[in-house]
Amino acid sequence: MIKKKVAVIGATGIAGQQFLAALPNHPQFEIVALAASSRSAGKSYLEALREPSGAVGWWCDEDLDENYARMPVLDSLDFDAQSVDIVFTAVESDAAKELEPRFAQTTPVISTASAFRYESDVPILIPGVNNDHAQLLKQQSARGWKGFVTPIPNCTTTGLAMTLAPIHERFGIQSVVMTSMQAMSGAGRRGGVLGLDAVENVIPYIAGEEEKVQKETQKVLGVLNSNAIVAADFPVSATCTRVGVLDGHTEAVYVATEKPCSAEDAIAAMREFDGGLRGLASAPDPLIFVHDDPFRPQPRRDRNRNNGMTTVVGRVREETALGAHGVKYVLVSHNTKMGAARGAILVAEMLLRDGYID
Ligand SMILES: NC(=O)c1ccc[n+]([C@@H]2O[C@H](COP(=O)([O-])OP(=O)(O)OC[C@H]3O[C@@H](n4cnc5c(N)ncnc54)[C@H](OP(=O)(O)O)[C@@H]3O)[C@@H](O)[C@H]2O)c1
Repeated sequence: MIKKKVAVIGATGIAGQQFLAALPNHPQFEIVALAASSRSAGKSYLEALREPSGAVGWWCDEDLDENYARMPVLDSLDFDAQSVDIVFTAVESDAAKELEPRFAQTTPVISTASAFRYESDVPILIPGVNNDHAQLLKQQSARGWKGFVTPIPNCTTTGLAMTLAPIHERFGIQSVVMTSMQAMSGAGRRGGVLGLDAVENVIPYIAGEEEKVQKETQKVLGVLNSNAIVAADFPVSATCTRVGVLDGHTEAVYVATEKPCSAEDAIAAMREFDGGLRGLASAPDPLIFVHDDPFRPQPRRDRNRNNGMTTVVGRVREETALGAHGVKYVLVSHNTKMGAARGAILVAEMLLRDGYID
């Protein structure tokens, strides 16, 4: 099979680097172009990562592929998206707002940024959860684009929506309360969290995060009704905090359900959850792993299950403080893998399989 040519925009950042960690030897995709800001443009990828001190800022556990290290970094503003089959973007929202429509004029864009998430003709895809929302992409031809922009959710939304989906499907959801304990890598490399602020500490606020999680969870778990997504109407209340963990977001979730739902019912629903992804190279099996050890999940020990693609749950208990029926649990989801690069790659695999990408 001839591999699809892909570009990674924002390749030098925390999320961008994870694309380079995931794609060597991918059966369908081959990186042919890397781009970042004008700061990095014109350098080799390795030199773009080098700090003035000489330190190379490669943050992935996997070694940097030698071929990627030698590749030139392009200025994103000059990148010609027609030269590739798929563009993966991993830049902040302001840059995404400018770059992604340019690329989408000719080429499918799969984005980790929030710039287009709330537009009515744009789905927020989590493979396995809302595969059918991809139909919305066809509407983007009305923008005059040959391609499209399809973002993945905020990395805190991913684990929440993934675990709520099987509960919503079987028991209906009345309301959700969630408190996150988010990893430092979620704040990115530039302007991220200082170690001195985060170590031995909990920072009780992440600007803009709670609003994103609330709105995105409702959109992801909404219903595609003829040609629009009708957002789920249950309220979601989030408190998002930053903790001294490198990777992996932990979330404590409380769910009131419409129908009676015991802890055993919720566990069975999560364990049996089948997202229709079998055969896709990055799809984890299972999508959700449920521990019976009450001391799990823990970010350090659980974030890398199935290459960081499985959402790991534990401490599932009945909960009636919010309504007549419900459950509460703790989850861990890898923010830079399922919550960013590998999650975006899985979207590309699904869209290729389902005919949205030629
Ligand atoms: N970190 C996570 O866990 C995570 C998870 C899910 C989604 N995301 C999303 O992924 C995106 C990137 O986040 P990050 O954490 O990887 O940030 P980051 O580490 O700060 O990296 C930002 C990247 O964007 C590039 N860049 C900055 N300004 C640019 C411009 N004007 N034009 C083109 N490229 C530009 C940077 O290139 P230079 O090196 O040249 O400056 C770098 O490659 C954000 O939208 C974020 O919300 C992140």
